[in-house]
Amino acid sequence: MVKINLARDIYWVGAVDWNIRDFHGYITSRGSTYNAYLILDDKVTLIDTVKHTFSDDLIAHISEIINPEKIDYIIVNHVEMDHSSSLPRIAKIAKNATIFSSERGKDALIEHYGPDFTGVKTVKNGEELKLGERTLKFIDATMLHWPDSMFTYIIEDKILMPNDAFGQHLASGGRFDDEVDDHVLMEEATKYYANILMPLGPLVARKIQEVVQSGLTCCMIAPSHGIIWRKDPDKIIKAYTSWAAGETKTKIAIVYDTMWGSTDKMARAISEGAISEGVEVKMLKMRSSDNSEAITEILEAKAVLVGSPTLNNGMFPTVGSFMTYAVGLKPKDKIWGFFGSFGWGGGAVRGMSEMARKAGFEVHEPGLEIKYVPDEEDLKKCLDLGKQIAKEVKA
Ligand code: FEO
Repeated sequence: MVKINLARDIYWVGAVDWNIRDFHGYITSRGSTYNAYLILDDKVTLIDTVKHTFSDDLIAHISEIINPEKIDYIIVNHVEMDHSSSLPRIAKIAKNATIFSSERGKDALIEHYGPDFTGVKTVKNGEELKLGERTLKFIDATMLHWPDSMFTYIIEDKILMPNDAFGQHLASGGRFDDEVDDHVLMEEATKYYANILMPLGPLVARKIQEVVQSGLTCCMIAPSHGIIWRKDPDKIIKAYTSWAAGETKTKIAIVYDTMWGSTDKMARAISEGAISEGVEVKMLKMRSSDNSEAITEILEAKAVLVGSPTLNNGMFPTVGSFMTYAVGLKPKDKIWGFFGSFGWGGGAVRGMSEMARKAGFEVHEPGLEIKYVPDEEDLKKCLDLGKQIAKEVKA
């Protein structure tokens, strides 16, 4: 492999997972990477590892640069197994290496990999570690996105290694933002934020503010998934600042499913109403789309209209799954509306509204229910609902 330098004596030694399509339920249609970094200095330092199924790649990439036995320090920014599950193997090879993590990281390492990790040294927010010519600074990143998370900053090179933050699930031949299609990169960065970091928006905003106020500048942001931000690190900082603030477009996401086409007809009429008001609309039928795609569309939407036919007095299963996923990710400051067809007792619209209210969402009342098949009058109600929500979105 061609050695990949971030700066002099700082290398990418991670792995590209071209074929992963399901990352604990997040549909990764463009694969992913597990980024690890090696710094050659008086103390040879490895920052993070890779998913255990790629440990051969990690070891091969390090071996092209230095004998892995010579690693002195291993920094564990985050214990989730996509980044730490090669650690037991690396620690056996680099027998004399000292492992550093946050305090919670140490507990989590022991809980994942057993008592071999009781010797891990813990570091606190702001603590520095001299490697020789270079110095690492550790930044507490509790709950971004696990309790153990921390960022590592290389002071002399101004390179931030924030682990999961600012990442994307994107496999590619290029490792840097100037080597990949910008549109694809931002699409995946958006999807990643929506599916991983959306519920942590206030923490993200606070952390960015804290880092900016501390005077720390980043020439490069090297996350643990996807592309390294070299050309324009400010671009992803600005995008995170906007998402964390809950900034939206005049856009409505219509998420629905259908049994015999009635809820589909309703969804189409609602979309026509909204479009006639000049609002951007995105429709997703949940047997053709997945939850990760739908939540990505919701990130920048001002309103979300969810449609479900009633099945066995409740929601259609694909819509029920979406509602569970959405409630967990807590999208902020959106208008939610519900609609659907029913045959006799109904229940789907009521169930969705109750679930949304319980989650603290702003719910447009009343929901719109149509018996069996919508007639012209019913479709007019749908059209009007689309127009009305569009007006609220534009307000
Ligand atoms: Fe990429 Fe939280 O692990």
